[in-house]
Amino acid sequence: MQLHSLIASSAFLITSALAAATSSSSIPSSCTLNSHATATAQSDLDTYSRCETLVGNLTVGGGLKTGALANVKEIKGSLTIFNATNLTSFAADSLETITDSLKLQSLTILTSASFGSLQSVDSISLITLPAISTFTSNIKSANNIYISDTSLQSVDGFSVLKKVNVFNVNNNKRLTSIKSPVESVSDSLQFSFNGNQTKITFDDLVWANNISLTDVHSVSFASLQKINSSLGFINNSISSLNFTKLNAVGQTFSIVSNDYLKNLSFSNLSTIGGALVIANNTGLQKIDGLNNLTTIGGTLEVVGNFTALNLNALKSVKGGADVESKSNNFSCNALKALQKKGGIKGESFVCKNGATSTSVKLSSTSKHQSSETTSKTSKASSKVEEKNLTSGNIKAVSASSASSSSSSSSSSSSSSSKSSSSKANAAIVAPIGQVTSLVGLLTAFIMSLM
Ligand SMILES: *[C@@H]1O[C@H](CO)[C@@H](O)[C@H](O)[C@H]1NC(C)=O
Ligand SMILES: *[C@@H]1O[C@H](CO)[C@@H](O)[C@H](O)[C@H]1NC(C)=O
Ligand SMILES: *[C@@H]1O[C@H](CO)[C@@H](O)[C@H](O)[C@H]1NC(C)=O
Ligand SMILES: *[C@@H]1O[C@H](CO)[C@@H](O)[C@H](O)[C@H]1NC(C)=O
Ligand SMILES: *[C@@H]1O[C@H](CO)[C@@H](O)[C@H](O)[C@H]1NC(C)=O
Ligand SMILES: *[C@@H]1O[C@H](CO)[C@@H](O)[C@H](O)[C@H]1NC(C)=O
Ligand SMILES: *[C@@H]1O[C@H](CO)[C@@H](O)[C@H](O)[C@H]1NC(C)=O
Ligand SMILES: *[C@@H]1O[C@H](CO)[C@@H](O)[C@H](O)[C@H]1NC(C)=O
Ligand SMILES: *[C@@H]1O[C@H](CO)[C@@H](O)[C@H](O)[C@H]1NC(C)=O
Ligand SMILES: *[C@@H]1O[C@H](CO)[C@@H](O)[C@H](O)[C@H]1NC(C)=O
Ligand SMILES: *[C@@H]1O[C@H](CO)[C@@H](O)[C@H](O)[C@H]1NC(C)=O
Ligand SMILES: *[C@@H]1O[C@H](CO)[C@@H](O)[C@H](O)[C@H]1NC(C)=O
Repeated sequence: MQLHSLIASSAFLITSALAAATSSSSIPSSCTLNSHATATAQSDLDTYSRCETLVGNLTVGGGLKTGALANVKEIKGSLTIFNATNLTSFAADSLETITDSLKLQSLTILTSASFGSLQSVDSISLITLPAISTFTSNIKSANNIYISDTSLQSVDGFSVLKKVNVFNVNNNKRLTSIKSPVESVSDSLQFSFNGNQTKITFDDLVWANNISLTDVHSVSFASLQKINSSLGFINNSISSLNFTKLNAVGQTFSIVSNDYLKNLSFSNLSTIGGALVIANNTGLQKIDGLNNLTTIGGTLEVVGNFTALNLNALKSVKGGADVESKSNNFSCNALKALQKKGGIKGESFVCKNGATSTSVKLSSTSKHQSSETTSKTSKASSKVEEKNLTSGNIKAVSASSASSSSSSSSSSSSSSSKSSSSKANAAIVAPIGQVTSLVGLLTAFIMSLM
């Protein structure tokens, strides 16, 4: 513990500081906060400036207009500044460590918060700070960071932070950029509903447990190698996802509803432990950039207007496939070939393009639907398949699905949603009648696939 910068009344300070260094129980009572210590005026804060270490939880609130906590280097506990609606600025520039949380919340006219020496804190929350323009700190160690509903345009103050557990930035409508040198995120990195022009740069991040991005404009993750759990890009205005070092995603990997997305580049990605979901990215015509992907542990789900889906290295999909393109130009041949070789396991295999009008999961349909619905859906799909037997652009039903019995709730719910869309199509595609012969044809077709 360094004492050289200490002010006045040094005898007391030295005693208490040395005491703090050796045993917290011997810190003088003046430096131990009572259980509901609250400062509502600068004079209250001044009483703490005799202490290098404060033990306990300090709350700042009430009507003070500016606040400064001088000299205190460590809080063994938390600092909360809450509902001080006349507070315009706060500074605690000697503070280096807060062992528990630092929370600034509901400070309607606070424009600046300065913690220029703060290096270590368990968690930081900046919540509902509609006027704030600067937050200064020098954080090297923080477990959890939450920044929500602030007017910050950039997130500074974390420029030397290397490791974090949670980094969650949401609803900051004026935010335009976040640049961070974080190297690992042991729980989650989440950005959502910030300004829709937000640029995110995490070029030193090597691994994260999970990452979820919504409403982001551009991303750069030049070093990212591994996602232990899930990776999701939902509803962003990102035009290009360039993750050329990423090698593995432990669980689900989703790219959904990114209307401006044109390019994917995941050239080193080889395994996904869970599902791969690429859906409703309206501008994504060619789905490539996944040329090293060999294994998908869950379902392969791809929905959209895409004309091409290049998964050239894919060898194994463990949870079935549902690939649906609105485009007539998309061909299912490659996936069908993989499925025939046994590369796609799981309960159902559906692949269709804009030319095929319907699909249905046979075994589940017959188990869970009324017989009339079954006839209609079977009939509709058999008709389509009959016409497209030579074209290759067909919906195929996996042989293994025939053995899927009463099964799990997820399988029955997915089958019912599929058959409901099948029902609508069925009415258009074919009138009722000739059910038996068409079902027979369909059965023959399934046998031919086996
Ligand atoms: C400070 O608050 C935390 C909970 O937020 C509590 O666990 C802890 O005991 C408090 N510390 C003191 C000294 O009151
Ligand atoms: C804030 O300042 C106004 C005007 O000076 C005063 O009326 C009000 O009571 C103050 N708010 C609080 C929480 O003290
Ligand atoms: C915030 O402070 C005002 C008075 O300044 C008080 O009326 C209000 O109840 C406080 N809100 C909360 C959530 O404590
Ligand atoms: C961003 O938000 C603004 C205002 O809400 C909107 O006009 C604009 O279209 C949005 N841009 C994108 C790319 O979504
Ligand atoms: C992150 O992954 C863990 C599993 O490792 C999961 O429990 C948690 O819910 C995930 N968090 C988010 C925000 O997705
Ligand atoms: C993708 O990122 C790599 C490495 O950061 C870079 O060399 C390459 O130019 C980027 N490609 C695109 C299309 O942005
Ligand atoms: C995630 O994977 C990295 C790299 O393999 C590993 O070092 C880290 O311990 C894993 N983290 C978690 C939370 O499992
Ligand atoms: C995506 O955006 C649409 C329209 O802006 C919105 O209705 C929907 O809730 C968003 N979904 C998510 C997951 O944010
Ligand atoms: C694809 O993976 C192989 C090894 O699995 C690796 O040697 C190769 O560099 C990867 N390709 C790219 C473009 O990263
Ligand atoms: C894609 O959009 C359709 C229609 O809006 C919707 O039913 C479906 O749930 C979406 N898919 C995903 C994965 O969000
Ligand atoms: C297909 O493209 C049209 C317009 O180009 C768009 O309206 C529609 O939402 C897209 N559908 C999907 C599933 O991406
Ligand atoms: C069958 O496939 C061909 C070629 O893709 C397509 O032109 C035709 O419309 C399809 N027939 C039906 C009934 O979908």
